[in-house]
Amino acid sequence: MNDSTLETTAIRVWDWPVRVFHWSLALCVFIAFFTGESEQYSLLHQTLGYAAAGLIAFRLVWGVVGTRYARFQAFVRGPKAVWTYVNSIRQGHAEHHVGHNPVGGVAVLLLMGLVALTALSGWMVAAGDAPGWQEELHELAANTLMMVVAIHVLGVVLSSRLHRENLVAAILSGYKQGHARDGIARSWWVLGLLLLAALMVFIWRQLLL
Ligand code: HEM
Ligand code: HEM
Repeated sequence: MNDSTLETTAIRVWDWPVRVFHWSLALCVFIAFFTGESEQYSLLHQTLGYAAAGLIAFRLVWGVVGTRYARFQAFVRGPKAVWTYVNSIRQGHAEHHVGHNPVGGVAVLLLMGLVALTALSGWMVAAGDAPGWQEELHELAANTLMMVVAIHVLGVVLSSRLHRENLVAAILSGYKQGHARDGIARSWWVLGLLLLAALMVFIWRQLLL
């Protein structure tokens, strides 16, 4: 092929804020999940739960003002697009998307919504003085979240195999193979590091001061 615009190269897809958001969120949620029943780690549990909620708040803003593939506009698609994507897989010619595919977009919204609900109900448990439905809700939200996380990871593995691209490596490094015109221009690394620093200061202040 002579047209150089059709050649693939390593292109930047996920900016730093998205990558810091993702791996910090995963870590906070996992640790919060496994400390939920421990009296001893109750402060750590609540702190990481609030940190997860803060990360979601940041991502909501970045979903509006962030880079191309971070924007909700890029991956929140209607039922028709979801159906077309599912059909393309069934017919053996899966549509390729540089950012989240339409099914992935649904999963992202579900994950973010469930993290928010889990943290909100956790705050209601901690703020209340008597056991009640809030505890039931918190437990249900946390368990549903972990089920969706398991499906999410399975989806990532299947999608990586289907498209022969390592999606986990991509959300770690920020890069995928693609056409130069599809890459984002800036990595926003300063903002990513600021987000990480803010998170660490918050956790440190809660636990140690
Ligand atoms: C509690 C655990 C986790 C949560 C709550 C979570 C949540 C999310 C969210 C909200 C996104 C969207 C990122 C964005 O657009 O900002 C995402 C994407 C992604 N996650 Fe996770 N995640 C978790 C664990 C994992 C794990 C363990 C893996 C590794 C297998 C993983 C791999 C990915 C990948 C590869 C993407 C990008 C998908 C794509 O290319 O469309 N996640 N995750
Ligand atoms: C996304 C973050 C969170 C996850 C994944 C999570 C998960 C869990 C889990 C699995 C339990 C044990 C439920 C049981 O079997 O009894 C639990 C309990 C609890 N969580 Fe969270 N939680 C999160 C955030 C929060 C937050 C932000 C708070 C409060 C500020 C909180 C406060 C509590 C309290 C007080 C309990 C004990 C409830 C009881 O006595 O049954 N959680 N959490």
